[in-house]
Formats: sequence, structure tokens, C-alpha cells
Amino acid sequence: MNMLNEAQVNVFLQTFPLTKQNESMALHTYMKIGGPARLYLVVHSDEELIQAVQTAIEQKIPWYILGGGSNVLVADEGYQGIVIQADIRGHSVDGERIVAKAGDFTGLIARIAVDAGLVGFEWGAGVPGTIGGAVYGNAGCFGGEMKDVVSTVDVYNVSSRMRKIYTNAECQFAYRESRFKREPHVILGVSLQLKKGDSAVAKAKLEAVMAARKESQPQGTFSAGCLFKNVEFADESNIATLRHEREIPTTMLASKCIAAGWIIDTLGLKGKSIGKAQISTVHGNFLVNLGGARAQDVIALSSFVKMKARDELGILLQDEVQYLGF
Ligand code: EPU
Repeated sequence: MNMLNEAQVNVFLQTFPLTKQNESMALHTYMKIGGPARLYLVVHSDEELIQAVQTAIEQKIPWYILGGGSNVLVADEGYQGIVIQADIRGHSVDGERIVAKAGDFTGLIARIAVDAGLVGFEWGAGVPGTIGGAVYGNAGCFGGEMKDVVSTVDVYNVSSRMRKIYTNAECQFAYRESRFKREPHVILGVSLQLKKGDSAVAKAKLEAVMAARKESQPQGTFSAGCLFKNVEFADESNIATLRHEREIPTTMLASKCIAAGWIIDTLGLKGKSIGKAQISTVHGNFLVNLGGARAQDVIALSSFVKMKARDELGILLQDEVQYLGF
């Protein structure tokens, strides 16, 4: 990890005097894990956000925009770069659309939609983090995905230095994927296309989603949501070893998608811990910090799970969580 030099740091501090130095990332992530970010800045407008990214690029300082901190693991050694947190919120309802800034909380926007009598985003109620982060990772749960509700995304394209509005198709969404993971962009806002519907039915659906989450996922713990992506397969030959070793639920075979949580469960790894990192006893795809876990515990545990899945079941698990500083 290359350390930032004094000149790089000074230019940034002069341009943004409110920049903090060596800010613990454990304070800003759901996992409550992570060493210090060499530089850390909270910005309050799109212009400030773009300028901060541009300054970082000019100074050759690695940069990272932190959404809600709900899907990221930061290294114990921290991050030699600038972490930018966008404290930029504000939403409006316009007919069947909701326009939100990237820093708005996903759960809040889902509730606003229901209150406005709009349906189609009830599933977002329990999604942690910001809506900008949800767009970035095409977040989804309980049958919904961002790609089903996004109309347009307001972005700053870092390579072309242009502000643009992308259509849904231009975002290239796929399961937990978008073009934003592959090309550097700053997500500034999103417009969701929903439908007028029965507000009472939507409210009931939202409550059902929250109850289902409580039922199947760990509550009140420090975690970054699901650790691995579910395993999509095109052809059953891709899961031949798993099929030989385990009876796969028919629903998963029919959907051509094996739940990572089920794989980890069937490996008998729920409750397995390394240091203070533990595979949740409630859901196999959640890794929880029992208090004082280190990133290296999480990495060791996640590597152990991957190794078991590969060696015993022929399955290659892919990370869903983002890694910073490794
Ligand atoms: N299962 C087990 N054991 C477990 C966990 C799950 O047998 O320990 C089985 C369940 O019984 C069910 C199947 O696996 O038959 C799927 O489980 P679940 O319904 O909990 O959903 P999931 O596929 O594990 C996905 C998303 C979650 C989202 C839920 C709810 C991924 C990686 N995960 O989980 O999203 O909240 O659906 O719809 O796509 C996230 O992305 O961080 C996340 C938590």
C-alpha cells in the first residue's frame, strides 16, 4: 500500500479545509471494522463532491465514495486515500416517479413511496444504506431489484468529466452488478418509476417484507448484509459436484440460482467463528462482528468458507461485499 505523501495531503487540505485525517472507518461502516482512512471528507453538494473526486484524481490520490457503509469491509491497516461521504439528500414525488439524491436512505425512500400511494418499491424498506449505493450494486431482496424500478440515474462520468443522465439500459444492470462497478462514476441521484396503487395494500406488503427480514436475517448485529452472491448457473453440469453431494431444493434448481446461505448452512458452518467474526447462526450468508472483530478475522473466515464450498461442493463463491484498502 503506497502511503500518500505530504504534498498530496496538503493540496487536499488546502482545497477542502474540513478534511479529516486518519479517520477510523470502524465508525462509518455497518460492520464496525476498519482502520483509518488517511483522508476523510463529508461533502454537502454535488459540485463539492465532483470537485473532491477531481482533486483526488489530479493529485493521484485513490478515492472511494462511501454510501451508507453497509456493504463494505475496510482493511485493519486502513485506506491510503480519500474516503468521501456524500451527505447530500433530498427527494420529491412527481406523479409516479420519485426523484432522490444519492445520499438518501433506501429504506426512507421506500416508505415515502408507500405513503405517496406508489407501489413497486415496498421491498426496499429494509435495505440498509443509501440509494446511491443500492443503484451501484443493483441491490435487491424479496423479489425486487433496483433494475426493476430505476428510470434514470444522474451521474458524473469521471473519465469524460461529464455530467450525464443514464437510462436504465445504460446502467447495464445485472444480478448485483452495474456499469458503475466497472467504470468510474459518481452517482448523484436517481429517479424511480413506480405505479399508482392501493396504499393500504402497499403498506401491508412493506410490513410483510420487514417481518420476513426479521424472521430470516440476523437483527441488531454488526454485519454487511450478505457476504457472497447467490450462485447462478446456466447448465446443471456447472453444479454437478453439488448435485452429487447434496439434495438441492427444487425451487433453487427451477430458478437456476443456488442460495449462498443454503450452501454455507449445508456445509455446517453456521456459528463458525474466527476471532470475533462469526457466520451468523440465523442465516449462513451473513457474517457478523461479535464485537472487536478485525478485518483479518473476516477475511480468514470468508476464505475458509470459500475453500470448503470449493473443495466439498465444487462451488466457487463470489464476494458480494466490497473490499477497501486490501
Ligand atoms: N437458506 C438456508 N439456510 C440459511 C440461509 C438460507 O437453508 O442459513 C435457504 C432459505 O431457506 C431459502 C434460500 O436459502 O430457501 C434463500 O434464502 P433467503 O430467502 O434468506 O434469501 P437469500 O437468497 O439468502 C437474498 C439476498 C438478500 C436478500 C434476501 C431476501 C443475495 C446474495 N442475497 O438472500 O440480500 O435480503 O434474498 O430476499 O442475493 C444482500 O444482498 O446483502 C442481501 C442480504
